[in-house]
Amino acid sequence: MRFFIDTANLAQIEEAMAMGIISGVTTNPSLMAKEGIKGKANVMNHYKTIAGLVDGRDVSAEVIATDFEGMKKEGEAFAAIADNIVVKVPLIKEGLKALNYFRTKGIRTNCTLIFSAGQALLASNAGANFVSPFIGRIDDIGWNGLSLISEIYQIFEKQVLDTEILAASIRNPLHIVESAKLGADVATCPLKSIEALLNHPLTDKGLAKFLADAEKLDT
Ligand code: G3P
Repeated sequence: MRFFIDTANLAQIEEAMAMGIISGVTTNPSLMAKEGIKGKANVMNHYKTIAGLVDGRDVSAEVIATDFEGMKKEGEAFAAIADNIVVKVPLIKEGLKALNYFRTKGIRTNCTLIFSAGQALLASNAGANFVSPFIGRIDDIGWNGLSLISEIYQIFEKQVLDTEILAASIRNPLHIVESAKLGADVATCPLKSIEALLNHPLTDKGLAKFLADAEKLDT
C-alpha cells in the first residue's frame, strides 16, 4: 500500500517528501481553505506549487462545481497545470458524467465522498482511476469505516476492476495498518497520522540504551 499525504500545507508536503514515503498528495476545498488560499488564481498557483514539489507524483485537485459543464471546465483547467494532476470529483450523478468525460480525454480522476460499495462500483464503471472511501467519517457516525474498504476490495477483485482504492479520512495509525491489510492500494493521511506510525516504546527504550552504551565506547 502506498501513502499519499492529505494536506495543502507546503511545509508538511516537503517534510513527507523528505522522509521518502509518499507517492502523492490529496487536497480538498476544506484543506485549501485551511491554508488561507483565496481566489481562483491563488488556488491554481497553489496547485502548481504542490505539483512542482512532488516530482511527478499524483496531486489530486478537487472541483468545486456540481454540474457537468462546470466540472469539465474546472477539471480541464486543473489538468493543464501539470501532468501529475488528478482531477477529484464528488460522487454525484453529474460527477459520474464528468468521470466518463475525463476518461475519454485521458485525464486521471479520483472520485471522492464515497460512503458505500455501490457508490464505488458506479465510480469505477464511470472511469475513476481512484475511489476515495472516507473511513473516519463513517466511524464518526458509529458505523465501521474499515469494513467498507474490505467490501470494495472484494468487489473490485471479483469483478476485476482496475480502479484503485484510496483509503481517505484517515484519523489514526490503526486506520492505516488495517487499510493495508484489507487491500487498499493507497492511504491518504494527515502528516500526524503518518508520524504516529513511527512511535513504539521499545524503539524509544532501545535507542536510549544504545545511546547510553555509546557513551562508554572509546571513540
Ligand atoms: O481525503 C479526504 C479527507 O481529507 C477527509 O478527511 O478528516 O476531513 O474526514 P476528514
